[in-house]
Amino acid sequence: MRLRRSERESRRALLRFIAASPLACGLGAALAPRGGHAQANVIDALDEILAALIDSPDEALNVFDFHEYVKVHMQPGHYWYMAQGVDDQRMLTVNREGFTKFQLLPRRLVDTSSVDLSVELFGQRYDSPVFIAPCGALATFHPEGELAVARAAATANTLQILSTVTNYSVEAVTEARGAPLWYQLYPTTDWEFTRDMIQRVEATGCTALALTVDIPARNLEPIARFSRDTNEECQACHQPGFEAAFRRKAMFADADLGNLSMGIRGLTWDYVDRLKDTTSMNVLVKGIVTGEDASICLEHGVDGIIVSNHGSRAEDSGRSSIECLPEVLEAVNGQIPVVVDSGFRRGTDVFKALALGASGVCIGKPYIWGLGSFGQPGIERVLEILNRELRIVMQQMGTVDIASITSGSIRM
Ligand SMILES: Cc1cc2nc3c(=O)[nH]c(=O)nc-3n(C[C@H](O)[C@H](O)[C@H](O)COP(=O)(O)O)c2cc1C
Repeated sequence: MRLRRSERESRRALLRFIAASPLACGLGAALAPRGGHAQANVIDALDEILAALIDSPDEALNVFDFHEYVKVHMQPGHYWYMAQGVDDQRMLTVNREGFTKFQLLPRRLVDTSSVDLSVELFGQRYDSPVFIAPCGALATFHPEGELAVARAAATANTLQILSTVTNYSVEAVTEARGAPLWYQLYPTTDWEFTRDMIQRVEATGCTALALTVDIPARNLEPIARFSRDTNEECQACHQPGFEAAFRRKAMFADADLGNLSMGIRGLTWDYVDRLKDTTSMNVLVKGIVTGEDASICLEHGVDGIIVSNHGSRAEDSGRSSIECLPEVLEAVNGQIPVVVDSGFRRGTDVFKALALGASGVCIGKPYIWGLGSFGQPGIERVLEILNRELRIVMQQMGTVDIASITSGSIRM
């Protein structure tokens, strides 16, 4: 391919940027043993990678195409905030490998010329069981942040769960979505503040509150290497310290940050009772990975569970999220809906969770890849791809709607 001069210049500028990116770190290490011409090799290799990247959302064939794009184009500190797992990042692989432990049992000669992906949860109908997981600070990846996500969720008519630590307020995001959200709750050390926030959320028509319980502590090393408190490049935009960071979070704009901090370290099941007494929204617990805890959820009147290891960002040395799902479903025995996330990247992944009995699947990083690449159209394409893949596997499996996907479709 012959590039015009202006294209060559902008490609060169991009290559200089990439030299400082996460991608180049890996490439440099990979090419080092080749000796003398290593630098030229790096540039050639980067050039080849650039040529293979998508230029627009519609060129993407799968969600990984968006990941390749952000590896090159995203500011490294932002990339690692998004991409990191805990400790040595092993859970990222564990979550993906978990899906290979379940095999599909296709049924032939079923008329699947019409397939319906829609699902209903807490009285709301969605066009797909692929939902948007709560992820914080999305303006990091695109100026429209959670608003772009809301508009893409509206296009796909799917569920959006909004994080506590967003850049746009629950009111603004609800307006952009044009339908009720679910809200994810990180408690603060100030109950009055948290209670007021819950009431504010409820006033928007939000139907469910998901209490995240899986990160009482964790070890995130990549982001520690890009600490904005010590990294000069970060300080061009970020001021150091908790207070400066939280002023950028819409729900904390007026909080007395001198007397408030985030944290779930002291949290116990009493807090779930307190939430049940405080709100008439459905209360879910996000981050359950054992049958034992699922049973305790039932004892406390929880209305739903999200099986999750926080997208590999909770503890290391755990099981994949999909492998935790069966025992949670067994404990719950159909009494409340169970949604699952962490590592879902393909329509077959979603199908396997539905076959085990999940009511829906959330994605986190894939929609951030779409957002970081092209904003709202990027997220729309990510959802379109996953729904297309799910439809294909449903046709292969002889299942015409979500209800017809059963445990008979899968073997462990
Ligand atoms: C950048 C980022 C920010 C996140 N922020 C939150 C959050 O604020 N609250 C929360 O409960 N989970 C948060 N999560 C976890 C997601 O809700 C979800 O569990 C996870 O991303 C799903 O796994 P996946 O990224 O492999 O799809 C975050 C995940 C990422 C990648």
